[in-house]
Amino acid sequence: MSQNASKHEVIEKNVGWMILLIVLLISVGGLVEIVPLFFQKSTTEPVQGLQPYTALQLAGRDIYIREGCYNCHSQMIRPFRAETERYGHYSVAGEFVYDRPFQWGSKRTGPDLARVGGRYSDEWHRIHLNNPRDLVPESNMPGYPWLAKNTLDPQGIAPKMKALRKLGHPYSDQQIAEAPAAVQGKTEMEALVAYLQVLGTSIKTSR
Ligand code: HEC
Repeated sequence: MSQNASKHEVIEKNVGWMILLIVLLISVGGLVEIVPLFFQKSTTEPVQGLQPYTALQLAGRDIYIREGCYNCHSQMIRPFRAETERYGHYSVAGEFVYDRPFQWGSKRTGPDLARVGGRYSDEWHRIHLNNPRDLVPESNMPGYPWLAKNTLDPQGIAPKMKALRKLGHPYSDQQIAEAPAAVQGKTEMEALVAYLQVLGTSIKTSR
């Protein structure tokens, strides 16, 4: 047996060394991949024209998460021909800097929604969310009729925007002050539609 092989045998037979060295190896490999992303402009700076969500859109985003839409819909167009032909320009990191947490998802029971903003009218979304089969007879998406009946809670929105501002979302004092009035009396349906209609609109696409 060669000298090297026997040295390796020492590690293989000692589970303590084995665990330690595996942890070390994975940590170094991980850091080398992840740390540069925090410093690259393309991953940390918003794309030109990207605005943080308005109060109503932000409330709608919370409904999207609450209802688990991400279980069936991704928000991440991959840079492949088949995807860009169907959905539009592929997603870039700078579009998601005001998404905490991002809603990329990985499951596509339904279509990707990264660029659904502006594709349909508000009315289309209201009918579709109420009962998808009214518009797409073969759809297996559940209906969300209660969204049109529930109204938003105006109390929670300003503290949420303040917290996001601490994380770097550029909300002005005025936007935060006006937030409760902006969602007052609005239904969850209106908020969700406002959110859907802004998705992916900061990049002009040729679609
Ligand atoms: C059980 C899986 C499932 C869930 C959960 C689900 N959807 Fe869907 N969704 C689908 C399927 C399948 C389609 C395609 C058929 C259709 O248009 O209804 C679709 C289509 C859509 C479309 C039209 C997309 C396009 O480009 O034509 C929108 C918008 C949408 N869903 C929004 C939502 C929202 C918002 C939620 C959460 C409130 C949600 N979906 C939850 C399965 C789902």
